[in-house]
Amino acid sequence: MNKPANTQHPVHELIRNRWSPRAFSDRPVPPELLQQVFEAARWAASSFNEQPWSYIVATRDNPQEHGLALSCLVEANQQWAKHAPVLILTVVRKTFAKNGKPNRCREHDLGLADGNICIQATALGLMVHQMAGVNLEQVRHTYQIPDTHEPFSAIAIGYPGGEAEIARLPEQFQEGETAPRTRKPLDQFVFSRRFGSKANLVG
Ligand SMILES: Cc1cc2nc3c(=O)[nH]c(=O)nc-3n(C[C@H](O)[C@H](O)[C@H](O)COP(=O)(O)O)c2cc1C
Repeated sequence: MNKPANTQHPVHELIRNRWSPRAFSDRPVPPELLQQVFEAARWAASSFNEQPWSYIVATRDNPQEHGLALSCLVEANQQWAKHAPVLILTVVRKTFAKNGKPNRCREHDLGLADGNICIQATALGLMVHQMAGVNLEQVRHTYQIPDTHEPFSAIAIGYPGGEAEIARLPEQFQEGETAPRTRKPLDQFVFSRRFGSKANLVG
């Protein structure tokens, strides 16, 4: 399903075409493509080049691992993410490795790496759906995450589903697959001089 963004100004095709589906094809994702996706994360910018992100990956060719990762998602996410051939749990280091001081930018930098994952995956014909709906304590326990790190989110990756894959979703998710994508206009978040005062640049 293509749902290109209806943009106010032109943007790169990868940004226009990325969106978060819940219907995934059963087609497995070749390991070489997953390697490229993680390589993209590797080259994200980060505060002091700390690279605070870690990823725990599970693919459906190992059903036990896939099931373990799936079980860490909240029930509503499990209902659709069970079809995604790749599940990833994200983890972030709380402090700088070199001096032990808190890394205020850790979640920001994890987000940048996740953003690279989204864009690289889109370039490879894959779809990505990020999730905050994760049982974080269960992730910590299941994967023995040390206290220096915190589990943060999950990511589903796979090839796009078609009509059959939409039809097998629970009903409450089906409409979202074809619904248009919406965003706030630029003048609601690009300001000048005072917070809340729109920049002339954006109309
Ligand atoms: C950090 C983050 C957490 C999210 N958590 C969930 C989630 O738990 N379940 C879900 O179905 N979608 C989740 N989403 C997907 C968002 O709802 C989606 O990105 C948003 O509606 C914009 O749609 P688009 O990505 O298709 O443009 C999450 C997205 C992000 C970035």
